[in-house]
Amino acid sequence: MTAATVPGTDRAPTTNQGVVAWVQEIAELATPDRVVWCDGSEEEWTRLTDQLVEAGTLTRLDPDKKPNSFYAASDPDDVARVEERTYICTETERGAGPTNNWMAPAEMKQTMTELYRGCMKGRTMYVVPFCMGPTDSDDPMLGVEITDSEYVVISMKIMTRMGAHVVPLLDAAGDRWVKALHSIGAPLAEGQADVAWPCNETKYISHFPETREIWSFGSGYGGNALLGKKCYALRIASAIAHDEGWLAEHMLILKLISPEEKAYYVAAAFPSACGKTNLAMLQPTIPGWRAETVGDDIAWMRFGADGRLYAINPEFGFFGVAPGTNWKTNPNAMRTIEQGNSLFTNVALTDDGDVWWEGLEGDPAHLTDWKGNDWTPESGVNAAHPNSRYTTPISQCPVVAPEWNDPNGVPISAILFGGRRKTTIPLVTEARDWQHGTFMGATMSSEKTAAAAGKVGEVRRDPMAMLPFLGYNVGDYFAHWVDVGKSADAGKLPKIFYVNWFRRGEDGRFLWPGFGENSRVLKWCVERMEGTASATETPIGFVPTADQIDLEGLDAEPADIAASLAVDVEEWKAEIPLIEEWFAKVGDNLPSSIRDEFEALKQRLGA
Ligand code: GDP
Ligand code: PGA
Ligand code: MN
Ligand code: MN
Repeated sequence: MTAATVPGTDRAPTTNQGVVAWVQEIAELATPDRVVWCDGSEEEWTRLTDQLVEAGTLTRLDPDKKPNSFYAASDPDDVARVEERTYICTETERGAGPTNNWMAPAEMKQTMTELYRGCMKGRTMYVVPFCMGPTDSDDPMLGVEITDSEYVVISMKIMTRMGAHVVPLLDAAGDRWVKALHSIGAPLAEGQADVAWPCNETKYISHFPETREIWSFGSGYGGNALLGKKCYALRIASAIAHDEGWLAEHMLILKLISPEEKAYYVAAAFPSACGKTNLAMLQPTIPGWRAETVGDDIAWMRFGADGRLYAINPEFGFFGVAPGTNWKTNPNAMRTIEQGNSLFTNVALTDDGDVWWEGLEGDPAHLTDWKGNDWTPESGVNAAHPNSRYTTPISQCPVVAPEWNDPNGVPISAILFGGRRKTTIPLVTEARDWQHGTFMGATMSSEKTAAAAGKVGEVRRDPMAMLPFLGYNVGDYFAHWVDVGKSADAGKLPKIFYVNWFRRGEDGRFLWPGFGENSRVLKWCVERMEGTASATETPIGFVPTADQIDLEGLDAEPADIAASLAVDVEEWKAEIPLIEEWFAKVGDNLPSSIRDEFEALKQRLGA
């Protein structure tokens, strides 16, 4: 079949000839039965969700409980990002750096072209025009995703600004748009029955930062398949940001409002499944303080005319971890999904057409688990996959900040780095300055979570929570952070803090209650910025003692709080060889200023 004969190829709504030619080229290669140009309309949503219900991919939830919402269960082998199969394809291996899988672009394209050949046979090829960040931006960040998955199309509708309203921007974009090619890699032979979650054992998530292209094959899972998110807004955008002097980061954006009605915008980088979405929707427990949400996963930050760092959230929806989410830990997420228009993947299904997951209120006697099996409390397995997710529109969040869609972004006063560490890392530490904060971010570590395939619990270095999302050499990235600090007026730079909500006591319990109580830590950060709170200088930075934080009304053991704040020099000494090992991996590209910070830390520790 030639492209001219693939029905729909010629129905392009855009005058952008680059888009038209690319769609033609891919139709010719992948040989779908038809091409559909997506317009993002309600009609399209209804048509595709109806079709997916019919196919068994989606189950419609009870509209009285969750209107216009659906449940999906993936293939059991397609539940998380696949870091082992994720590649940064730069011309030189040095370009991708020591933390990424690398293959030369020509070689990867040759391999994947053969995978894509005929890969959409028997299916529909959808063309999804989308924009990351507000569409009224001076420089809208556009993309076109080609996909053969209806699940991806409807997910893109929730997660990005997509459809007909983006087309005029695309018409005017010339070649400033990202080619994002996705296939589940499951062609259907004549008469072959489909499965509920088609995918391929062979998976590649490939990025070509130099030509701003993404090629994804074999997976339908969010981070692997919704290419606007991790692939574009982090991996490709981080490389663009490096070239253009801004930052594309794995950060939530939170607006904190003091009792005096003063607003502070905070960005925070925590690795996947380490508390970003929860902090972004925080409900403060301290009287008089309020919080609003700007973003929960990605921040693009540029300097404004006034010399301050401004952040936008490039996304349009939340792709949140379900387990652990409930009316106590994250009431605002519950209120967001309750309004409907949401997709739930790999959670469990209740007998009355609702969803359930570990940690949610209620103790169901019977469920259908994420693998489709009958489940009772005696089953001895999780009903929901630990990385099960809800996909829901940001606009439904009851505490969304009114400025969440402002193309100018919000001025950031503080940046938090944080990981999931049982030991060593105190509840909160303030950096001495930007460079010291960059060192903290560069040496951040965390226990692996279920958000990526692989062993859970292993401690690894995850610099700025960007280890899986960096589109270029990590040493150059550190240098970029240092340079960003040098280029700015020091007084206008955000203050940097390092937090750890996950330190544990001997019996494994969390020392700090977390969630809404994290507002106490944020209050201390704000007071440090205002110069009204005290701190204790330690070898690792400024750390508060329990009496320096507002703990009024907190229901917690004083000994636990003290332990959560402790700077244990012996534990830190044990950390030194691990940082040494990490810096050896970063290699020659480690900026000398970051090495200097390390030497100074060793000296202060007497290590
Ligand atoms: P994200 O993937 O970084 O957005 O992380 P989430 O906010 O979705 O949280 C991931 C998991 O960590 C969920 O199971 C949460 O319930 C849990 N979590 C989030 N914040 C806290 C906290 O402050 N303390 C504890 N103990 N768990 C938390
Ligand atoms: P998360 O987003 O950071 O909310 O877990 C998905 C991911 O990073 O894979
Ligand atoms: Mn993330
Ligand atoms: Mn999240």
